[in-house]
Amino acid sequence: MKKVGVAILGLGVVGGGTYKILTEHREFYKKIHGIDISVVSVLERKKERATALGLDVSKIASDISEICNNPEVKIVVEVMGGVEPAKTFVLAALNSGKSVVTSNKELFCKYSHELEKAAKSNGCGLFYEASCVGGVPVIRTLIDNLQGNKIMSMMGIINGTTNYILTKMASEGVSYKDVLKEAQKLGYAEADPTADVEGFDAAYKLSILSSLAFHTKIPHTKVYREGIKDVDLLDLKYGNRFGYTLKLLAIGKNSENGIEVRVHPAFVQNSHPLASVNDSYNAVYITGDSVEDVMLYGRGAGALPTGSAIVGDIIYCATHDNFNYSTFENNEDADPSIKFITNFESAYFMRFDAEDKPGVLSIVSSILGKHGISVAQVNQENEKKGGTVPLILITHETYEENVKKAVEEINGGKVAKVVSVVRVVT
Ligand code: HSE
Repeated sequence: MKKVGVAILGLGVVGGGTYKILTEHREFYKKIHGIDISVVSVLERKKERATALGLDVSKIASDISEICNNPEVKIVVEVMGGVEPAKTFVLAALNSGKSVVTSNKELFCKYSHELEKAAKSNGCGLFYEASCVGGVPVIRTLIDNLQGNKIMSMMGIINGTTNYILTKMASEGVSYKDVLKEAQKLGYAEADPTADVEGFDAAYKLSILSSLAFHTKIPHTKVYREGIKDVDLLDLKYGNRFGYTLKLLAIGKNSENGIEVRVHPAFVQNSHPLASVNDSYNAVYITGDSVEDVMLYGRGAGALPTGSAIVGDIIYCATHDNFNYSTFENNEDADPSIKFITNFESAYFMRFDAEDKPGVLSIVSSILGKHGISVAQVNQENEKKGGTVPLILITHETYEENVKKAVEEINGGKVAKVVSVVRVVT
């Protein structure tokens, strides 16, 4: 029987989950795939992590070169996260002829051009299903199953931490800061939550997914990014009255006019399938010209869900001799001929503190009209505070630049101040 030795770099949550799946399913994989996959080496400084998993400490390598020089190791699994030393280790593994499976979205997003070049020149595989949306099989869906399509758009909830926070804020009426504190206590959010709450994690994933979907390199620096730190409970409450749920969305669109890629909070209608993706669950909603709409849903993080994606890649790698690489020119930068759209088109939720007197609505709507913004719905809340009342307008689709100019003009006047502006997916 074909033997495939695996080395795991990092025995944290995902490394531990991967080890567990491989060990518990070893006999099953022998029977189903006719291959004997086993973990023959690990790189981990904390010995207790290995012993907690029941792993023989003699399998702990002293350094990466021991793994690179081990002829039993065919596949190196990198689950350390961050750029360095992960990048150095992955390149060392590829350059010594080992195929690599990684869950590292930041590394892959920033350096896929270098890693892929090394993989190709050494005839190795480079797999990264686990880098985006954990256990949800979106990468292979894009690179295999949906190849028959021109993908026009993708829209996803691709960060579990922020989805958990927004779900709790909406369901329990608790502020962003309080939910974050609780999520950190429960271990759902990192001690330093920056990458998640400021949208970096989602932007890295969107960069990878949209490059694959649109067949052109989309560096993460092209992704417009806003996080959830400034989300106000009042907007969730007032948005709900219009039938909206707030999500941190990652949106990619490809049209004749160009490509737009953005991560920001947005209202979706409660009837949209993404509105019911709650807690730490993730989902990606893809629209292709032949298949129409496809939605993939599941756990975007966690030991076993992410381990599932990694083990899927290991089995694919172990059972294939020819490896797939990017379906686009994998350079560091975007193709200069690609136009990136930054003046997005969207509908908007606008909340004002407005004076409660005749003519205010007409002043506000005439300024909006002057900037080409048409109002679709209006609601004045009966919650007077310091002489002003909350006035909510939902606009028809318009351009981002128009909204910015209108906000500036309204705030320059006396009758109403713009408190918040939230994009609405129509
Ligand atoms: N931190 C990520 C999230 C999980 O909250 O979705 C790993 O990508």
